Amino acid sequence: MTFYHHHVFVCTNRRADGHSQGCCASKGGEKIRDYLKARAKELKIPQTRINAAGCLDRCHLGVVIAIYPQETWYQCNSIEDAEKILQEHLVGGSPVTALQLRDDQ
Ligand code: FES
Repeated sequence: MTFYHHHVFVCTNRRADGHSQGCCASKGGEKIRDYLKARAKELKIPQTRINAAGCLDRCHLGVVIAIYPQETWYQCNSIEDAEKILQEHLVGGSPVTALQLRDDQ
């Protein structure tokens, strides 16, 4: 039994413009974090926490989201992707395979 059924970490790390690694903030990480947080509350998804995270070290794939304890990692490029993750993973309990990151990425 875990404290949270879904602990969602959304990378909102910001780097200076032009930085070679880029960052998830420049790809909308904060907007996606805010959206997930508001919708999870609105939908009253139980035992679910949405947190901002620092760099998850997969910057070129951002916006990066990691959900534990399932250890599911996503590339979330839009509010539509975020809604899919909400509906299918957090509500429905099935990962969104089309958005999942592979372990070797
Ligand atoms: S800046 Fe988001 S994973 Fe590194």
